[in-house]
Amino acid sequence: MNYKFHEPIDRTQSISIKWSPQLRRQMYGEDDIIPMGIADMDFPVSPAIARAVQQRAAHESYGYGYPSQEYLQACVDWQRRRNGWEIQPDWIVYTPGVNMALVCAIELYTQPGGNVIIQSPVYYPYYDYVKHTGRKLALNPLVNREGRYEMNFDELERLARDPNTGLMILCSPHNPVGRAWTREELEQVCRICGDNGVMVAVDEIHSDLILSPGAFVPYATLSPQAAANSIICTSPSKTFNLAGLLVSDIIIPNPVVREAFQNKMAPYYLWPGTFGTVAQIAAYNESEPWLEELLEYLRGNAQYLADFLARRMPQVKYRVPEATYLAWLDFREVGMSPEQLWDFMLHKARVATDNGVMFGPRGEGDGFQRLNFACPRSQLEQALTRIADALEGR
Ligand SMILES: Cc1ncc(COP(=O)(O)O)c(C=O)c1O
Repeated sequence: MNYKFHEPIDRTQSISIKWSPQLRRQMYGEDDIIPMGIADMDFPVSPAIARAVQQRAAHESYGYGYPSQEYLQACVDWQRRRNGWEIQPDWIVYTPGVNMALVCAIELYTQPGGNVIIQSPVYYPYYDYVKHTGRKLALNPLVNREGRYEMNFDELERLARDPNTGLMILCSPHNPVGRAWTREELEQVCRICGDNGVMVAVDEIHSDLILSPGAFVPYATLSPQAAANSIICTSPSKTFNLAGLLVSDIIIPNPVVREAFQNKMAPYYLWPGTFGTVAQIAAYNESEPWLEELLEYLRGNAQYLADFLARRMPQVKYRVPEATYLAWLDFREVGMSPEQLWDFMLHKARVATDNGVMFGPRGEGDGFQRLNFACPRSQLEQALTRIADALEGR
């Protein structure tokens, strides 16, 4: 191994939302708790990124930046190399994160009171986007077939047909259930949304974190129709652990859609931050070997988790995800109410996962916990041991 994925790093004094002792007390009422929620990684960034950021920091001038050719080209080259997707630099629009881009897509493609299709259980801020923009949730719950989640295309078609529906947010790969959608599944989405005039905002933030090699299909490569009717939200932030640098690349092949999106963002006068820019360049141009090794480590953790559960907590069901570093753990056979389960995690196990309840407004996540396994294996082992010991002792 060339990189130190197995070595714990102390993040408690690094202004980390996950590790700040003060926030842990505030959020969980506990000091001694292992944070296994929030989707960032407990690994140092690649040496190339650390070097680039440190070199730039040494310059000691931190004025406005701009989307430089090198920064845009790094994204173009990445998409070609990793995904076989040929894009143009001017298709890329900067936003300081994917969340903002998805809110912008909602505001562009729906009226107040209009519908946004969302497939639950899903990354819970999606519900907040809809609520805070005064839109309505058109919920298409995924179907859980023994831990493998599938889309309900009949219901999707029904929701898309409603003239008040303007946008679908497609999480691809899907957080938290770990599916990398197949070509056939994505083609159905494309056909249904295309036929009904529904724009698709595709959240591909986890698309480099593929645990089943070859499983990810970039949405816009499906067909010219898919490319024309989509806003593709990408970012180096999950892949390379750069969430604190606020960089994302929103790729919009259709010039009409792109111009509308750019106009919507124009009043904010947003420029890529200096450190985000240099980090993206170093990530996409120089950190591929680091990513390959990261993926191997994550595959090891995903399997370690499966083996641990089989050995010590067989009542907790889990399917190794095809993508992401998030495990969607099914505690329903343990026989606790959602409230009891959350209380158990925080106060008996003392492990802060993400509460499944937040991921689905119709109870789709009740009895589930999302656990982030992008951490040194020793930390994963410690967290799982706490849960298993607490389950045995309760
Ligand atoms: C599916 C998904 N979309 C968006 C985000 C947030 O993206 P950003 O930090 O770029 O706004 C996350 C973060 O965990 C995520 O998992």
